[in-house]
Amino acid sequence: MTTTGKGPAGPGGGSSAPVDETIDGADEAVGGAAIGTALEEGPPPGERTDGDTRPSSPVGPTVIDPAAPTRSAEERLTSGPVMLGTIKRRVTLQLDGREVRVPEGATILDALHDEGTPAQADTPTLCWAPNMDPINACRVCVVEVEGSRTLVPSCARKCEDGMEVRTDTEKVRHSRRMVLELLTSSVDMDRASADVQRWIREYEVDASRYGPPAPPAAAGERDRRHAGHHDAPDGATAATVQQPVKIDNELYVRDYSRCIMCYKCVNACGTDAQFTFAIAAAGRGFDARIATEFDVDLPDSACVYCGNCIGVCPTGALVSVREHELREADDWHPEEETVTTTICSFCGVGCNLELHVQQNEIVNVTSPSDHSVTHGHLCIKGRFGFQHVQNR
Ligand code: SF4
Ligand code: SF4
Ligand code: FES
Repeated sequence: MTTTGKGPAGPGGGSSAPVDETIDGADEAVGGAAIGTALEEGPPPGERTDGDTRPSSPVGPTVIDPAAPTRSAEERLTSGPVMLGTIKRRVTLQLDGREVRVPEGATILDALHDEGTPAQADTPTLCWAPNMDPINACRVCVVEVEGSRTLVPSCARKCEDGMEVRTDTEKVRHSRRMVLELLTSSVDMDRASADVQRWIREYEVDASRYGPPAPPAAAGERDRRHAGHHDAPDGATAATVQQPVKIDNELYVRDYSRCIMCYKCVNACGTDAQFTFAIAAAGRGFDARIATEFDVDLPDSACVYCGNCIGVCPTGALVSVREHELREADDWHPEEETVTTTICSFCGVGCNLELHVQQNEIVNVTSPSDHSVTHGHLCIKGRFGFQHVQNR
């Protein structure tokens, strides 16, 4: 391989040192087993074999530095970028009376996760995800901030010097409970994550006090509603988003009876990951819903079936066809599921795949949200292209 240019190595791995000149064989030199071979067979420390009389690199042979034989440390420092981590000022704030310091730019939720007690780190979230920009839609993560007129969403509000944050007041608990209660009264939350189910229990959510759910909408009825034409509720039943599942393609289904309008799918399809913009919010108020352009079926929309919307949906509103089929057949066994991490074999980018296997069958594919290549997002091949390894 011939490698040129500066900057960090690509996803295949390798040194992050800047490299200015052409290096033949660099792929082996940075590739793991070859490093051991080079170390065993190379010249002893301090001895040069290339006729160069300059002192050898002070870093010694335990650091693989392809530039060392021909460039001094001084040349390297003056001729290219020096790779330093971002240096950030730290801000000091109080979390329930305890002083913590976090990097400038961190959100309150970051501070709770990184510096908080286990209870503070367990702040409920629905529209937040570690691999997405804050959306700030659900408000289940609210906290009190001294001097603030209203509760603030911890996932979006940046920490400031001197801030006094309170996370477990009556006001905070009441607000979080109301959010979860209104959502569970109108949306089917029984396939939300185990954490969401636990928060529903711990906040003593009682959706039944809003009355029995109103009858479900017919197929397409909610999609035809226009802003400003919402019928007043009858007061005896709880308004609901119940409606038939949308199955219009072979890869994933949209079950909007489970949609809490967190906007994660919209942002994953848009500026957070995919930049396809196949879906957006339509309607207003309780009739707000996720829709394709002109409410066309997915195959007629701009959707490229990357499934990144599925990957971020917190309530099971978007799932693969296979998961939907198994759930409908009462043959879905998450308690038996194993997850194996591997590398996608379709191209050379190097995306990590997590193969979710139930009963010897791959039922879903995801990617870790902290993976430096994918940030949790995949393309259609990585997400859905696994049928060729199944015996069915
Ligand atoms: S599958 Fe991909 S392109 Fe299609 S709606 Fe979801 S995020 Fe957008
Ligand atoms: S479909 Fe899922 S990700 Fe999209 S808004 Fe609804 S709940 Fe959120
Ligand atoms: S998680 Fe903070 S507003 Fe939704």
